[in-house]
Amino acid sequence: MCLSSDGTAVVILDQTLLPGETTFLELREPGELREAIVSLRVRGAPAIGIFAAYALYIIARRYSAESFEGFNSQIVKHSELLDSARPTAVNLSKQLRRMERLVLSLAESPTPKIIDAMREEAGRIQREDIEMCKAISEHGLALIGEGFGIMTHCNAGPLATSQYGTALGPILLAHEHGMALKVYSCETRPLLQGARLTTYELYKAGVDVTLICDNMASIVMKEGKINAVFVGCDRVAMNGDTANKVGTSGLAVLAKHYGIPFYVCCPSSTIDSACGTGVEIEIELREPQEIKEMFFEKPVAPSGVKCYNPSFDVTESSLITAIITEHGVCKAPYEQSLSRLGKRG
Ligand code: MRU
Repeated sequence: MCLSSDGTAVVILDQTLLPGETTFLELREPGELREAIVSLRVRGAPAIGIFAAYALYIIARRYSAESFEGFNSQIVKHSELLDSARPTAVNLSKQLRRMERLVLSLAESPTPKIIDAMREEAGRIQREDIEMCKAISEHGLALIGEGFGIMTHCNAGPLATSQYGTALGPILLAHEHGMALKVYSCETRPLLQGARLTTYELYKAGVDVTLICDNMASIVMKEGKINAVFVGCDRVAMNGDTANKVGTSGLAVLAKHYGIPFYVCCPSSTIDSACGTGVEIEIELREPQEIKEMFFEKPVAPSGVKCYNPSFDVTESSLITAIITEHGVCKAPYEQSLSRLGKRG
């Protein structure tokens, strides 16, 4: 993800077309910027936060002739529109609030100067993400042994961040260090982020990756093939409950049953200090068509049948061995270990 060379558009790789097609999009219209988040052209908690910051800068350019009051009210309006695109990942609203605060702090400056500062801030958010993911990868690496079998769900790789990834970061780093790993990627129904994106990223990097259907996780664990589960996350509550792609909590239950460590990797920007427990996390509900039709040549269910399509679920902290952030490895009691992170600023 980056700005176009003339700085008038955000450039993204359209993730809905992977792995078959590599198409880069230049997005500049407010409607198409929001649509890219809704339809998962750009996806993954950190990536949508970074994208939204760039998007708000691109939109701000339209209002360069406005007075501060007019400009700020447009920023707030468009920020709310972008924020409403997806509810579960806290990174989206956090980075938008950060951009709004920046604008307010520059109330005395001419509007073009504020716009320049917004561009710099979005770039800073992206660079911080790269550094955070690098540090997460190093902390996670310490938990991986030679010859490990690792299971992962959804996609928490470079595509979901800016570089390195969160859950895939330690795996990619271990591979770079010459460690032999066997990674099992759950396909991740219904939008297949595991099949389409995780296997694509790991296979391209030369990591030994095997695709399984989501309902095969239990047999693979039972067969002794898995030493650790690494997943990403979209929001961490202060008691250590974590929301991630639907199916994650089932893996955590299975991992506990089979005595396998379950690690959640995320930058500290994914921790929501305003959220006490997982019960408070809003779970995104998506269209039935994603279950019934998408990725199939013909619809696989009667057209009128009801579907329930929650996009995320919450893994209770009691099932999580550790939460790995850029500051290190947090363990239970999470109220204490996560609040200590908050105090680092
Ligand atoms: O719906 P998605 O594809 O945006 O869901 C993404 C996930 O659940 C990821 O695991 C999470 O955002 C972490 S990405 C580093």
